[in-house]
Amino acid sequence: MEIINLKSESTRQKLMDIKNYLRKKKECVDTFLGLYFSSAIVPANLKESMVYSLSAGGKRIRPVLCLAAYEACGGVADDIVPYAAALELIHTYSLIHDDLPAMDDDDLRRGKPTNHKVFGEGMAILAGDGLLTEAFSLLSRGNVSLPAVPPAALLRVVCEAAKGAGIYGMVGGQAQDLLSENEEPDAETLLFIHRCKTAALIASSVRMGGMLACCSDAALSGLTAYGENIGLAFQIVDDILDVEGETEVLGKTAGSDEKKKKMTYPKLYGTERSREKAGELVDGAIEALEIFDEKADPLRAVAQYLLKREN
Ligand code: IPE
Ligand code: IPE
Ligand code: MG
Ligand code: MG
Ligand code: MG
Repeated sequence: MEIINLKSESTRQKLMDIKNYLRKKKECVDTFLGLYFSSAIVPANLKESMVYSLSAGGKRIRPVLCLAAYEACGGVADDIVPYAAALELIHTYSLIHDDLPAMDDDDLRRGKPTNHKVFGEGMAILAGDGLLTEAFSLLSRGNVSLPAVPPAALLRVVCEAAKGAGIYGMVGGQAQDLLSENEEPDAETLLFIHRCKTAALIASSVRMGGMLACCSDAALSGLTAYGENIGLAFQIVDDILDVEGETEVLGKTAGSDEKKKKMTYPKLYGTERSREKAGELVDGAIEALEIFDEKADPLRAVAQYLLKREN
């Protein structure tokens, strides 16, 4: 068990073994994902390429956040694993495309050669397209073997995933990220990039958990503020790790941002101030959960963990 010290008295936590929680939830998601494409009858290279990146590892933080938000709203996580797993299909697609030579041109991901290095650029693009499209098939299909989520809630969830992943979210942020290479960093553009390319899908993951549980408007506002705050903190920490982390621990090449002259938090604010900003965002995220009871403790603990992560 690990004691989590928070600055604010009102957000002080109970003891909780968050690493164990994350491991168990990741196992649920991995079990589902491990079987998902096993019987898919599609061209062998395409299947191999999708499975290669999906099974390479990864923290599964977006599905876990969706499950934790569902639990915070009174649900039982096992009931919504397929919906949560769909978020990992979207995220893995975004990583495959992010690594392409036309984007960040990276050679290492999740400790293995990047998808295009193994399968070629064409297949990497198609594997990404396949994962993204399949995510929406999975989300909209419903879950026949487990207690059903009301169709209206599912429709909301599909729309939410599209918002977080698409032009108003991740794709929009990635576009601005590309356009801002070699540019002098400015606070407004940097905030836009990080909010869109990373915080949007993370916030949507949390919101989807609430929506699947048919939560109240007040609960959804709390979850939204939580998700936006930790989402931004997550990308700030990612930027810091790119400067301070080691390739072997990260599973991706350190120093990639500097090489591509990316607009990052450490570049504009330095690593120390960036770390402070991430800490302030995490405090804000935990405060936003004030209306929730102890069922939201995993969400509170995940927020803290994100500051300490090493990969
Ligand atoms: C990496 O995401 C890309 C960012 C949005 C920063 P993760 O750090 O969640 O990567 P995996 O899924 O654990 O590999
Ligand atoms: C990418 O940000 C965010 C995505 C939407 C994939 P980065 O380009 O910093 O992510 P890493 O460092 O390659 O994982
Ligand atoms: Mg990138
Ligand atoms: Mg990248
Ligand atoms: Mg990065």
